Amino acid sequence: MKSFCDPLSFAKITIFLFSFVLLATANHAHEEFLQCLSSLIPKSIIYTPNNPTYSTILSSKNQNPRFSSSSIKNPSVIVSPLNVSHIKPTVYCSKKHGVQIRIRSSGHDYEGVSFQSTVPFFVLDLSNLRSIRVDAESKTAWVQTAVTLGELYYRIAEKSKTLGFPGGLCSTVCVGGQLGGGGYGFQSRTYGLASDNIIDAQLINAQGKILNRKSMGEDLFWAIRGGGAGSFGIVIAWKIQLVDVPPTVTIFEATRYWENNATKKFIHQYQRRASKIDKDLTIFIGFRTVNASDEQGNSKIKILAIISATFHGSRDRLLPLMQKEFPELGLLKEDCTEMSWVRSIAHWNGFRDDDDPLDVLLNRTNNFVPNAFKLRSDYVKKPISDDVLEKLLDRLYEEELGGGVVEFFPSEEN
Ligand SMILES: Cc1cc2nc3c(=O)[nH]c(=O)nc-3n(C[C@H](O)[C@H](O)[C@H](O)COP(=O)(O)OP(=O)(O)OC[C@H]3O[C@@H](n4cnc5c(N)ncnc54)[C@H](O)[C@@H]3O)c2cc1C
Ligand SMILES: *[C@@H]1O[C@H](CO)[C@@H](O)[C@H](O)[C@H]1NC(C)=O
Ligand SMILES: *[C@@H]1O[C@H](CO)[C@@H](O)[C@H](O)[C@H]1NC(C)=O
Ligand SMILES: *[C@@H]1O[C@H](CO)[C@@H](O)[C@H](O)[C@H]1NC(C)=O
Ligand SMILES: *[C@@H]1O[C@H](CO)[C@@H](O)[C@H](O)[C@H]1NC(C)=O
Repeated sequence: MKSFCDPLSFAKITIFLFSFVLLATANHAHEEFLQCLSSLIPKSIIYTPNNPTYSTILSSKNQNPRFSSSSIKNPSVIVSPLNVSHIKPTVYCSKKHGVQIRIRSSGHDYEGVSFQSTVPFFVLDLSNLRSIRVDAESKTAWVQTAVTLGELYYRIAEKSKTLGFPGGLCSTVCVGGQLGGGGYGFQSRTYGLASDNIIDAQLINAQGKILNRKSMGEDLFWAIRGGGAGSFGIVIAWKIQLVDVPPTVTIFEATRYWENNATKKFIHQYQRRASKIDKDLTIFIGFRTVNASDEQGNSKIKILAIISATFHGSRDRLLPLMQKEFPELGLLKEDCTEMSWVRSIAHWNGFRDDDDPLDVLLNRTNNFVPNAFKLRSDYVKKPISDDVLEKLLDRLYEEELGGGVVEFFPSEEN
């Protein structure tokens, strides 16, 4: 029989008592918080769980089915400001009644931190803050937090064929979290991270004050560009520097089986050279298992390397470069396609047909990840040795077919 001295049963009892106390104060705080909100902002933008729209708003921004489980705690309230003036009173009530804010733009966060928490919390849903002003002349734009990357690229291309922005790949991610966290994509080797190209910001701090770069000071302005802005305040909008993109970019996608020696040689060289070659070229490599057949026509699970690249220049410049740097890949002219910069973004988002209208970039529904997923990124500062990489990729066989993926982006540090 377990005694009360057993640390495990002791822990259970304390947790029980503790959560009971927490629950009681939480309910009380919740009621007062709600009253506070109702007295300061329109009731029509406050959603409690008994409002039918509450679950629609909550689930429409959940980008990962992993967080749909019933064990995930939902927010006590969702506040969806229609304009910036609604945010200050919301911050005030949150502080006054000790209810934590979770700031959400599009909900793409890998760990769902924009819509879940272990303590009593509410979601500040910023999805209505979607205005965007592109000024082609000064090559700048003011972008509100819930503008998606796809929308940003589309609106830039509308104004100019030779301006772009180095954000991420996935068009449904919002600038709120992406620019605050860094932002890496096919343009980053050429133009830097998304956050390197922020020149001003509008931020609401814990006192409800609206700050810009000048009034927040350079330290805070530095921190919110990469440090995850949510730790410092609520970003209303970013002012970004647009970059000059060539009228024609070239892309290629090549697939090679990992078991081929030429592929291994290419990956070996890639790890050592990708960060040193012409900055107009970015190559991403993804590995996944596929159901293939061997020489006898019997089906066999193999690992496929999917090699994708964007080159900010013409095919005639890219081919000799690839021949010189990565002859093992044996890239051919017909593997490469020239297109406009904005078309390449649509291409990498799955719209590969030239006839697909570019406004697919305005679609805010993510069709990339229908399955629950867990993602982990790390910087590889020195090349992974061939035998370690072999062991790492072997782990893919333990996953569902096509399920586990290992990806390489060229690190600039090795
Ligand atoms: C399918 C998919 C593809 C992706 N592709 C890329 C890629 O190519 N390149 C890349 O770099 N990243 C990529 N990411 C990662 C993505 O950039 C981050 O998850 C980013 O933080 C998402 O920002 P969000 O505003 O869309 O999401 P949210 O989940 O709404 O927010 C993410 C974080 O930022 C905070 N936040 C959001 N808005 C604000 C605001 N206005 N003020 C303060 N804090 C705020 C949130 O509280 C949360 O902590 C991808 C993610 C997914 C799910
Ligand atoms: C913000 O919304 C309120 C309604 O709650 C409205 O009275 C006000 O004019 C709006 N302000 C702006 C700048 O749109
Ligand atoms: C591939 O490389 C391995 C190890 O270096 C070698 O043993 C094998 O003969 C090579 N296969 C081919 C087809 O060249
Ligand atoms: C692979 O394909 C073969 C032939 O189509 C099929 O019989 C087999 O079940 C498939 N294997 C997996 C794991 O899907
Ligand atoms: C937007 O994308 C989703 C997911 O791919 C799709 O189901 C929907 O039909 C698209 N909407 C429009 C208007 O194209």
